[in-house]
Amino acid sequence: DASDIEKGTYEHYMLKEIDEQPPVIRKIIQEYSNDKNELEIDSDIRQALLDVDRIYIIAAGTSYNAGLIGKEFIEKIARVHTEVFVASEFSYNMPLLSQKPLFIFISQSGETADSRAVLVQVKELGYKTLTITNVPGSTLSREADYTLLLHAGPEIAVASTKAYTAQMAVLAILAVDLARAKGSSVPFDVTQELGLVANAMETLCNEKEEMEQIAEEYLSVSRNCFFIGRAVDYYVCLEGSLKLKEISYIQAEGFAGGELKHGTIALIENRTPIIALTTQQHVNLGIRGNVQEVIARGANACIISMEGLEQINDRLVLPHVLDLFTPFVSVVPLQLIAYYAARQRGCDIDKPRNLAKSVTVE
Ligand code: G6P
Repeated sequence: DASDIEKGTYEHYMLKEIDEQPPVIRKIIQEYSNDKNELEIDSDIRQALLDVDRIYIIAAGTSYNAGLIGKEFIEKIARVHTEVFVASEFSYNMPLLSQKPLFIFISQSGETADSRAVLVQVKELGYKTLTITNVPGSTLSREADYTLLLHAGPEIAVASTKAYTAQMAVLAILAVDLARAKGSSVPFDVTQELGLVANAMETLCNEKEEMEQIAEEYLSVSRNCFFIGRAVDYYVCLEGSLKLKEISYIQAEGFAGGELKHGTIALIENRTPIIALTTQQHVNLGIRGNVQEVIARGANACIISMEGLEQINDRLVLPHVLDLFTPFVSVVPLQLIAYYAARQRGCDIDKPRNLAKSVTVE
């Protein structure tokens, strides 16, 4: 029962749940390990996945943002075409589907009505469905053909944190399993790399004062904030900006670095806060160029980079992990910055205005 979950010494569930992320990743490794200590998914699900020409991921909110990273994993590791849709859009404007699609519903609660509406539609069309959820026995789990569980423990704060990283971990395991099943070689040891991810997340969870200072320095007087990144960093920026707007009410948007000059740059004023993420070698110079463009227009830029790519004025350097797995690590400071920005403003962090933990109406 959710009401029995104690906050312990934590002031808010959100901070507790941010801190639970490393143990949740370790728990997922344990839950998905077979007797040979390899990570795998249920063989029925593997079989269903092997039989499709395209995967459609359907989700809402933070789960949608996890789906974007899931697409990266499935396409880069397993080389299966994957598309990601906002549930409420898909149900009213169904795209042209491939010959043999499979639908993955990502939902922390397993109760989101927008996602369920799509599930009902595609089941009627006779397609296979898989739900990735934190709640066994939830509606989306019961109604789909297959379920993969997050094992993240109850998430109480409305703003989702540990479910997001757990969703990514399960999607990574699914992608690796599918790649192996297709006979492709996976050039890394997923158990080991996810273990390193958990350690790196822990390191960042131990640097809370730093994130508190960043929130103070960049966000204390601003009404808006832009997050910029390229490639997978862009997807993490979408999640970072969602966290910030949900709990601090600062108007926040995530943008693709290269797209700034096509419009958004018009919004940059003196001291506008910009949080820039750079974790990938191939986009490092590009995003740093974007940062120069906004600094030239007066922006207050906070650069968060990956170890190995860092430069002298970067505000935070993330511990190194596998290139594909940087989202697990780069999202942690964004969650913490959002948390402290909201706390400094005296917001109701665990129950932000106008939001519900699970939205059971379309
Ligand atoms: C609500 C919550 C969000 C959540 C979204 C999807 O809007 O406020 O935090 O991301 O629903 O929820 P789900 O349970 O389907 O992941």
